[in-house]
Amino acid sequence: MIKYLDANEWKVIESSFHPEYQRSSESIFSIGNGKFGQRANFEEHYSGDHHQGAYIAGIYYPDKTKVGWWKNGYPEYFAKVLNSVNWIGLDLKINGLQLDLNTWKVEAFERVLDMKSGVLQRSFKASAPQGMLAVEVEARRICSMADDDCGVMQYKIKANEACSIEVVSYLDSDVENQDTNWDEKFWNLLEAEAEPDLAWVKASTKKTNYFVAAAMVTNCTTAKKAHKPHSADSSNSLASQSFLVEVEANEWLNIEKHVGICSSLNHEESALVDVASEAAQGSANKGVDAMFKAHAAAWDRIWENGDIVIEGDAEAQQGIRFNIFHLNQTYTGEDARLNIGPKGFTGEKYGGSTYWDTEAYCLPFYLSTHPQKVAKQLLKYRFEQLGKAIENAEKLGFKNGAALYPMVTMTGEECHNEWEITFEEIHRNGAIAFAIYNYTRFTGDKDYIAESGFDVVLGIARFWAQRVNWSENKQAYVMLGVTGPNEYENNVNNNWYTNYIAKWCLSYALKCILYLKDSHETAYAEKCKLYSFKESEETQHWADIIEKMYFPKKANSKVFLQQDGFLDKELIPVAELPEADRPINQKWSWDRILRSVYIKQADTLQGIYLFEDHFDLETIKENFDFYEPFTVHESSLSPCVHVVIAALLGYEEKAYEMYLRTSRLDLDDYNHEAYQGLHITSMAGTWMSVVEGFGGYRVKNGVQHFNTMIPKQWTSYSFSVMFKGRKMQVEVSKNKTAVKLIEGEAITVFVNGQEETLS
Ligand code: BGC
Repeated sequence: MIKYLDANEWKVIESSFHPEYQRSSESIFSIGNGKFGQRANFEEHYSGDHHQGAYIAGIYYPDKTKVGWWKNGYPEYFAKVLNSVNWIGLDLKINGLQLDLNTWKVEAFERVLDMKSGVLQRSFKASAPQGMLAVEVEARRICSMADDDCGVMQYKIKANEACSIEVVSYLDSDVENQDTNWDEKFWNLLEAEAEPDLAWVKASTKKTNYFVAAAMVTNCTTAKKAHKPHSADSSNSLASQSFLVEVEANEWLNIEKHVGICSSLNHEESALVDVASEAAQGSANKGVDAMFKAHAAAWDRIWENGDIVIEGDAEAQQGIRFNIFHLNQTYTGEDARLNIGPKGFTGEKYGGSTYWDTEAYCLPFYLSTHPQKVAKQLLKYRFEQLGKAIENAEKLGFKNGAALYPMVTMTGEECHNEWEITFEEIHRNGAIAFAIYNYTRFTGDKDYIAESGFDVVLGIARFWAQRVNWSENKQAYVMLGVTGPNEYENNVNNNWYTNYIAKWCLSYALKCILYLKDSHETAYAEKCKLYSFKESEETQHWADIIEKMYFPKKANSKVFLQQDGFLDKELIPVAELPEADRPINQKWSWDRILRSVYIKQADTLQGIYLFEDHFDLETIKENFDFYEPFTVHESSLSPCVHVVIAALLGYEEKAYEMYLRTSRLDLDDYNHEAYQGLHITSMAGTWMSVVEGFGGYRVKNGVQHFNTMIPKQWTSYSFSVMFKGRKMQVEVSKNKTAVKLIEGEAITVFVNGQEETLS
């Protein structure tokens, strides 16, 4: 754990400068608006260690895969969301001396992420390396949620003596990704122009041919006057406006930069510079205060539906809001071509691509905290990629419309970097079908199955039906050579989770068929034709698999074995693992990890979490008690599942410990990797921990249940959930749980076992 940030309910605060954690802070204090995002880099030049990063959703590059020996089925490329135009740049020279916190003496420093209004602020006092000159700076910036083509920043500087301040405000499109496979440049630098009142740059991505333009208006004022730039310059990638201002001692120089950023994903290529310019000028016309106000109002609306309030535990409160904040600035549901990269806009690892994380972890959050159209966009994303999923399966030898969704993707094509681990994680297909089921049960929109849900479910069912094989030896269907969610086991046989979700998918497909025949006969007939679906022949085979699927079990117990042969391992619990050996993924050889018993993340327990209703409490308990002691939680997706199950079992301390771990994973940098970017998708797991864990929220047979508990560290907590067009507010204190209907028609719910009708 690394603790250097102050606990505060609405803010993240770095109250003194920590250059040693600069990269982590740049991730933690990142801002975004669903369309683009920006790491918390300094506006002024910084020569210390840092990672400059600005990202535009959906703008990616297919970086050629790097492997030793090529094998059939390897993906051609690893998709990378691209580091894009640096739009925050301000170079400052005071009496000719470049302001740089790496070389100046920092006297005071505060960096604040105000999560309530979505603003990144920074203030500092610094003195020049030589002499008596000292400056004071107050800066704030947003990626506007109200005008999502706009980034706005204000930077105020004053000095302790009369001096000249040179300000160079610039846009720079000559940027690089730090994690390229082949050290390639990803951008064609097309255009940079600067005029005194407007400057812009335009670039296009190599191979994918996306175009991006950014334009800026910079205003520089002192109390007495507005200053005009003394020059406007450009090269092929850099456009700048420079100001030279003589200021009195302690006189503020106010710099306001309005930036428009847009891409060919949303606009004609030929119109991009105009669109970006209009956005920048529109923002400048409104002014900084109005832009910040509209942005804060957009955040107010988000918090109104999505906030979780925890009383009595500032760290827990800060943790959950931090998670909710980042989820909302990563994905807004405006555009079904976009998805949620595991690092969002906060870093380059995982390439900004879509993983199973979206369906398995993020969907429940968006389902409960946003109007249903947002979650539907996530389903639409996969539906639009069905053709590619069928192609992916065909490349591996599957046929008849079997669909294998990619483990990592931008466009529907598989594009991961690590064949051995990632590729055989075919369980991802299950999460995608489960998301459709989840969506229909939380929204009541069953018509979606007829609209496009069944198309996806059918492709997935066909895949599982071909992926299993009949074992004469076991007289059962088996699934060989897979990787379960626990990536510390590769290419195992009969991973319990994968077999279970495969079987569930087949049963769900059968249920969907019954529903379609009953309620959407014509649509069903059309789909059968479209997909050449031979119902009786194919479903007979599915039913046989459902009946005879093999599941490894531990003898004389209720424990489901993670995979064949699991018990041959040395069963040494994590508690006996020397601290110096952890995290094992940084300390041990891969060979040692693979044969050890240690579990990276919930695997069998992931299945128990998804299908809790299928098991009695004793079975759940035995499995939790068996697996948790071997789990190292080296995936961010792990602790949250454990909170939910621990809370169900009444393991309060374990639930609380895991809650802190998931909610403060990045704030306290548990795994020493915040510098690479934040764990955005597991942030949805944090939300699950409170709502499904402590709040015990479940939907059973179409009815909501809340079985609450409260950690002893909290005096109360409250959250709200949307369900079938309604909004419910849940308030839990030490001795009372109250569920109120805030919006929508009367509904019956169960609160700690008691039936209540809310109106
Ligand atoms: C986890 C995967 C996950 C990926 C992206 C990995 O560390 O093991 O389950 O999909 O991170 O978050």
